[in-house]
Amino acid sequence: MQYFTSVNDVENLDALVALARAAKQNPYDANHLGKNKTLGLIFMNPSLRTRLSTQKAALNLGMQVMVMNVDKDGWALELEDGAVMNGTTVEHIKDAAAAMGQYCDILGLRAFPLLKNREQDYSEHLLRKFIAHCKIPVVSLESATLHPLQSLADLITIRENWPHARRPKVVLTWAPHIKALPQAVPNSFAEWMCRADVDFTIAHPEGLELAEQFTAGARILHDQHEALEGADFIYVKNWSSYRDYGQPYAGAAEWLLNAAKIAHTADAKIMHCLPVRRNVELSDELLDGPQSLILQQADNRTYAAQAVLQRMLEAITK
Ligand code: CP
Repeated sequence: MQYFTSVNDVENLDALVALARAAKQNPYDANHLGKNKTLGLIFMNPSLRTRLSTQKAALNLGMQVMVMNVDKDGWALELEDGAVMNGTTVEHIKDAAAAMGQYCDILGLRAFPLLKNREQDYSEHLLRKFIAHCKIPVVSLESATLHPLQSLADLITIRENWPHARRPKVVLTWAPHIKALPQAVPNSFAEWMCRADVDFTIAHPEGLELAEQFTAGARILHDQHEALEGADFIYVKNWSSYRDYGQPYAGAAEWLLNAAKIAHTADAKIMHCLPVRRNVELSDELLDGPQSLILQQADNRTYAAQAVLQRMLEAITK
């Protein structure tokens, strides 16, 4: 594996999940692979789980890790080719990414969308330029449109909690929020669930449709109650409008998930990628209750990253 930016970079989903679950059982089994190899983690935006779990994964594999908060500690980056850089930007992405590629064997990049220009965000122009210029393997730590490490951890968590033969019913339900959030987590979750062996439904208020390229194959409902009926897993997430790009959805507090709303599910497990605004997106009673999988998801971030880094190291050392 050279790039991990979406589910389309994964040849065999089941094999990658199995590798992650094996790493969880024996985290240091492959720690020879990372000897004298360096992972660089580049953040344009804040992070807790991605930063710590990916570092831990790399350390489990015997790698060295360097972390840089480009938004705070780096030069202001220029993205436009041919720009006359006589304004606020100090360094072109082509020079910055190329230099980073000299210091590392694998690079991770977190770069959120600006939520102003849909075409630009959905073209992943920053990630694509970074990949083009660093010239080494790249793992997405969440891009403008997708968060594949989160989705892999979510799939591992679903598999761990599903011993039955029948396909689980998985529901992604929109949640209220006070800010306009990116669509990366729900896009990515939808993309992965549409590839996995699950019965997948998305529930959201009208007007909050996600980009069809990520939801093809999903059942889409605007009635949360109907969507949750018989659910085995409920993934709760806010996102801003794709159609009215980047606009927050005002109100809709009635979409907050609480215990009363899941009474007619199949004792559904509750999932959220974190960070979560408690009692705005999801109630305390569900987050802290016995059906909550949020900490297991966070734990599985390490083994998702470890499986991906292991595949990249195997490709480098082949
Ligand atoms: N879920 C997730 O990516 O968390 P962070 O933003 O804290 O990394």
